[in-house]
Amino acid sequence: MTLASWNRLAETSVLLDGFHALKHAVRFGAEVPVAVAVDREAALALADELAPDVRDALDGLLTEVPEPTYKSLVPRPHPTAVAALAVRPSRAAGLGKLAHTPRTAPVVVLDNPRNLGNAGAVIRLAAGFGVTGVVTTGTLDPWHPTVVRGGAGLHFATVVERLTVPELPPGPLFALDPEGDDIRGVKLPDDAVLAFGSERSGLSAELRARTDHLLSLPMRPQVSSYNLATSVAMTLYHWSLTGGAARA
Ligand SMILES: C[S@@+](CC[C@H](N)C(=O)[O-])C[C@H]1O[C@@H](n2cnc3c(N)ncnc32)[C@H](O)[C@@H]1O
Repeated sequence: MTLASWNRLAETSVLLDGFHALKHAVRFGAEVPVAVAVDREAALALADELAPDVRDALDGLLTEVPEPTYKSLVPRPHPTAVAALAVRPSRAAGLGKLAHTPRTAPVVVLDNPRNLGNAGAVIRLAAGFGVTGVVTTGTLDPWHPTVVRGGAGLHFATVVERLTVPELPPGPLFALDPEGDDIRGVKLPDDAVLAFGSERSGLSAELRARTDHLLSLPMRPQVSSYNLATSVAMTLYHWSLTGGAARA
């Protein structure tokens, strides 16, 4: 691996920052043209311990580089001193999966999210619950390196795309808002589109206009709202108890 080839690929690739991001990306089928480690044997020992299913793949991928070279490749060195570049999945394939019906798990929509860490945490949740995809509206790039870092490489375990409200996938739209009906009385179907508002201003007027059901999470009256990612977690957990995941 030369610095020049890394730099050339870096312009169009997704940076996988750290062992766990690389492990998840490989596990969920990412194409990884280049991966580096400051201590290759230590990285493979970590794989033996934590991810034996991808150990051989990592053995074939990892190139050892001197620490100064590694540090020049990443914005913030990771404690595992592992980094890789992955090919971003095609938008056409992602849109095809989002549009496909019947759907066996919901799509999560973040309506104009502002916080990159929240977006990463939501993608990690989506991967964990096996949802069809995460769609963002607005200007935040859901493939921003900070979002990928927050998502621990799990962008490759679901679909992650940015769309406008009129382009949202088909399916009954359940939007979460403290003013909605209590979610505990509602069964969320597997083809649901579950929408959450911006950290700053909640659901946009455009998304509210497209909403079929407004739902609230239980919360004491004196509390204004929950954090965006924790709201997604509670809602997906509720779906898992009543929807298709409950039968898995
Ligand atoms: C931090 S909150 C937004 C707070 C914002 N200031 C507002 O006016 O709504 C981010 C999103 O989390 C979801 N959320 C937070 N608390 C909720 C609750 N108690 N019930 C339903 N959704 C909630 C909503 O989708 C909300 O738009």
